[in-house]
Parts: sequence; structure tokens; C-alpha cells
Amino acid sequence: MNLRAFLAAAKGEAEAALERVLPPAGEALADAMRYSTLAGGKRLRPALALAVHDVLGGSAAPRGEVAEAAAALELVHTYSLIHDDLPCMDDDALRRGKPTCHVVHGEAMALLAGDALQSLGFEVLASRPYGEALAVRRAEAVLLLARAIGPGGMAGGQALDLAASGHGREDLRTAERLKEIHEKKTGRLLSASCELGAVLAGASAERREASARFGDSLGVLFQIADDLLDVTATAAVLGKSVGKDVAQEKLTYVSVFGFDGAVAERERALEATLSLARVLEGAPGLLAALADYAGHRDR
Ligand code: IPE
Ligand code: IPE
Ligand code: MG
Ligand code: MG
Ligand code: MG
Repeated sequence: MNLRAFLAAAKGEAEAALERVLPPAGEALADAMRYSTLAGGKRLRPALALAVHDVLGGSAAPRGEVAEAAAALELVHTYSLIHDDLPCMDDDALRRGKPTCHVVHGEAMALLAGDALQSLGFEVLASRPYGEALAVRRAEAVLLLARAIGPGGMAGGQALDLAASGHGREDLRTAERLKEIHEKKTGRLLSASCELGAVLAGASAERREASARFGDSLGVLFQIADDLLDVTATAAVLGKSVGKDVAQEKLTYVSVFGFDGAVAERERALEATLSLARVLEGAPGLLAALADYAGHRDR
């Protein structure tokens, strides 16, 4: 299957699953949750989970339930975006081509929408795919996602990102710290997405570990591309404001290595990711194509 067809199919599966698990519209909190979650987005995290699941042989669980487990990643990711955009964090007014959650629903409701999306994500992951026989897989899934977004993962990386932003932080603006921030704030959730695919497929410990390493590498690659897009893209294509990393003096691959240096780092990260894809799929296939997309996307 070619990449474009796979991404379109995975997006369709993820969005149908999100419709099934989100609370119905009509009440303020549910409306704010639906507003940000159903606003679009590439749905890359569920796509990665489904890709690894399929490449590793899939599972006998009903496809819709596997898709709902994968969609839990998107609930948690959307929570991280809503909070990332808050005035106390990156203070962004545009996300997924629409005004940010706090601009439309107010700061308090945006905070709660993020909280509630995180809880809902864990509720979905703890219950899908259904059945006593899969209880251990579900528990493993919950544990790996909790680790990925906590103090050693996304939340920890976001804290380091904020600490390194702005003047007078030269001691915190090293290449080592930059890599740590990208690994944590973005890499761990992408890694967890790949590892979830392996867990849902009932893969061996070795394959599961290889999936996580592929995801870690792809995650850093993805965030290097994000740093570059902040410089090269337009808000109309990207669906979020551009040029904000320089304005907020963020620690990025562009600020540390310069534009050409960041491009070179992206290509190095892509090579590393491609070699980890080979461990999982042998000849370049879907995972290699996803790695190339993570590095060379235009939005
Ligand atoms: C944006 O993630 C935040 C980062 C980790 C760079 P995405 O680029 O996956 O955003 P959506 O989900 O497509 O909107
Ligand atoms: C965000 O990184 C990573 C998250 C955990 C949400 P950025 O702050 O660079 O993401 P964008 O550019 O706002 O999407
Ligand atoms: Mg940020
Ligand atoms: Mg941001
Ligand atoms: Mg960014």
C-alpha cells in the first residue's frame, strides 16, 4: 500500500474512532474537547500505532477496537496541544487552522478540556480492545503511555522547553539539552505510539523494544522538521502560527545549528530512523515511508 493511501485510511479509522469515544456535543466541556480534537490534524500517532501493528502481523482483535486504542493517542496528543497553546505556555492563537481552544472556549475550559482528554485517553486505552484475554496487553498499554507523557516524557520535556526559552538561559541552551527536550516533549509520545502498535499486535519483547527505538528516533526527526517548518512554512499551510520560535527565543534545531545545520541534522536523523525501520520490516516499506514523511512533510 502506498503511503498516501495508508495515511488516508488511518486518518479515517482514527476519526471514526474519535467520534465513537468522545462525549456528545451540547455541554461546555464536551464542546471544547470536540472542538480541538475534531479540528483536523495529521493523526500521525494513531497512524504509527496502526502501521506498526499491521507490519508486525496484526491481531485477532476487532479492527474498530484496535482503532479506538490507537485513537487514545490522539486524545492525549490533543490535550498536549491545548495546554501547549495556553497563554502561560506558548501563547498561540492558531491551531489546526482554527483559533485555539482557549481563544474560543476561554482559558478555564481549555485547561479542563485538556485534563478531560487525558483522562478519556486512559479510559479508552484501559478498556480497548475488550475481553479478559487481552487484559495484560491493555495494562501494558496504559503503563507505556503514562510513562511517555509524565515527568520523564512529554510533561518533563515541556518543562525543559519553557526553562530554556528566552534570554539569560545560555547555560541551558546546549545541543545536549536540545536533544533531550525533543526526545521528551515529542519523541516519547511518538515512541509510545509505535510501541502501542507492537503491544496490540502481541509482539515479542524484542520486536516491541525495536518498535520503541524506531519511534524514539522518528520522534526527534519529527520535531526537527517542526522546528524547520516554523521557519519555512506559511500559517495557511501549517495551520498554526509560524516564526514564533524566534519570537519566543525557543531552543530549536534552527537556533542551535542554523538553518543549513538543522537540515543536515534532519537528514542524519532520517538515516538513523530508516536503519531502525529495517530492523522491523526488512526491505524499506510502510515504516520507512512514514519516517521519510515525518522528516520531509510540508505541514
Ligand atoms: C504538533 O504535532 C506538535 C508537535 C509535537 C510538533 P503535529 O504536527 O502532529 O500536529 P497535528 O496533530 O497534525 O495537528
Ligand atoms: C510542542 O512543541 C510539543 C508538545 C508536547 C505539544 P511545539 O511547541 O514546538 O509545538 P507547536 O509548534 O506549537 O505545534
Ligand atoms: Mg511548545
Ligand atoms: Mg507550541
Ligand atoms: Mg513547534
